[in-house]
Amino acid sequence: GLPARVRIHEVGARDGLQNEKSTVPTEVKAEFIRRLAAAGLTTIEATSFVHPKWVPQLADAEQLFPLVSDLQGVELPVLVPNDRGLDRALALGARRIAVFASATESFAKANLNRTLDESLAVFEPVVRRAKDEGAHVRGYVSMCFGDPWEGAVPLPQVVRVCKALVAMGCDELSLGDTIGVATPGHVRALLSQLNEEGVPTDVIGVHFHDTYGQALANTYAALQHGVTTVDASAGGLGGCPYAKSATGNLATEDLVWMLRGLGIDTGVDLGHLVATSDWMAGHLGRPSPSRTVRALSHK
Ligand code: HMG
Ligand code: MG
Repeated sequence: GLPARVRIHEVGARDGLQNEKSTVPTEVKAEFIRRLAAAGLTTIEATSFVHPKWVPQLADAEQLFPLVSDLQGVELPVLVPNDRGLDRALALGARRIAVFASATESFAKANLNRTLDESLAVFEPVVRRAKDEGAHVRGYVSMCFGDPWEGAVPLPQVVRVCKALVAMGCDELSLGDTIGVATPGHVRALLSQLNEEGVPTDVIGVHFHDTYGQALANTYAALQHGVTTVDASAGGLGGCPYAKSATGNLATEDLVWMLRGLGIDTGVDLGHLVATSDWMAGHLGRPSPSRTVRALSHK
């Protein structure tokens, strides 16, 4: 059966904006996050405390976070790649952080300048300290299905990284299809393999990019498996600057449209969300790639 309720982990302000050619003004980002919250989203990934040279689009994290941290009833996770990132996030009062690992060596190198095991060794004290500070910790695993340099990614490789993150103390995982090549059968196989290896479904979230148009079908397969946390990006913004051939995330509007049709509660007001993505598209100077936004847009 399908879940009665799904928690949407909104990544537009982070995964979306990190990949835009133009840098969006800090005040516009803050307004975007406020509008997402007003549309009913309750988990809104705000930014990343990474090296500003690696992701210049998010170099204003210190300025942005205080502009939104007073939002009531909203969790604002932030990405941290290392101790330095955690220091910066904690200094601003962040209560939810995310580390981001890779299932492949190629992407660990491209995204974190480390081998896979070196990156896990960096995360371990970060996760421990974040937990000691009472923060909630998400562990992303990128390239869970395919990798632009290595091709199809073997399930055991993904399972190993997932188990390492859970053993470190991560409260939840997010399985990333960074370049959008997954299909529903592959999703089912990975989730089953994780369960068999002792990783329960209730710590697993899914993070699909829509490169091959499979993100909604993949989400449906995950819901059938019992997953209740789904990452999506308003208007379908997004990608990853260090993963060639990555396009935008599953659009939050497309997700909400499907879930609403299934009678699954998300708490999101679709009209309000579409208006927000229209407004953001105006700032970015290009239309939203989301089919649902285009169908419901008044522009
Ligand atoms: P590095 O060059 O190896 O860093 O980069 P380092 O540890 O050698 O340090 C070099 C300098 O950077 C030092 O300064 C550090 O202090 C500074 P110096 O002493 O030379 O003056 N530094 C920092 N400054 C600010 N904040 C920090 C920080 N860390 C070091 N946190 C590093 C290693 C991890 C920093 C770099 O590779 C990095 O920032 N990578 C981030 C890449 C990124 O953000 N990618 C996108 C997010 S992942 C994603 O999108 C996938 C996801 O959506 C899921 C999916 O779709 O699969 C999550
Ligand atoms: Mg992503």
